[in-house]
Amino acid sequence: MNSYTILLYLHSWLRYFVLGTGVLAVYYAYTGTSARRPFGKADNAIGASFVGFMLLQLLVGLGLYFGPSQYGWQTVKVAGALKDHTVRFFGLQHVLLMVIAIVVAQVGRSLSKKRLGDLPKHRTALRYYGIALLLVLAMIPWGIWNPYRPLFRF
Ligand code: HEM
Repeated sequence: MNSYTILLYLHSWLRYFVLGTGVLAVYYAYTGTSARRPFGKADNAIGASFVGFMLLQLLVGLGLYFGPSQYGWQTVKVAGALKDHTVRFFGLQHVLLMVIAIVVAQVGRSLSKKRLGDLPKHRTALRYYGIALLLVLAMIPWGIWNPYRPLFRF
């Protein structure tokens, strides 16, 4: 196994941790808002896990982008390379929108923590985590409108 395989497999599997914690974070924020439940330890923990896995995914993604990936910076900087659909997707669109999603989740978490009162905390978490999760879902290469990649790598 070389460093490329390790990073690619990690990046591929980490998506499910990002998605799983993201869905839970949105669900907790939604039920917290609708039931007007106090903002407790579990709400904080699930938000922290979502943001944590996003940051981990960012690190591995940067490793791929500035490292061994054929769709990374080494290719993107070559004139005309972005005409290729796959290079444009991974080298530009995927990276840009995922970084935005990560910033949105991170900002949402700190804003939610600062809000006074349980309902505003849940509401802020719901908005920001919701937007971040939608962006992530849209930019994963499922092969629907973007390149297809295996769902599970073994
Ligand atoms: C939550 C955020 C992210 C998720 C869920 C995600 C998910 C994925 C998935 C599922 C793949 C396909 C992997 C495979 O072929 O098995 C991929 C590829 C890739 N991702 Fe991400 N990604 C995220 C963020 C990022 C970021 C922030 C960067 C760069 C800074 C990045 C760089 C790349 C690159 C370069 C590839 C192509 C690798 C290759 O085929 O050589 N990703 N990503």
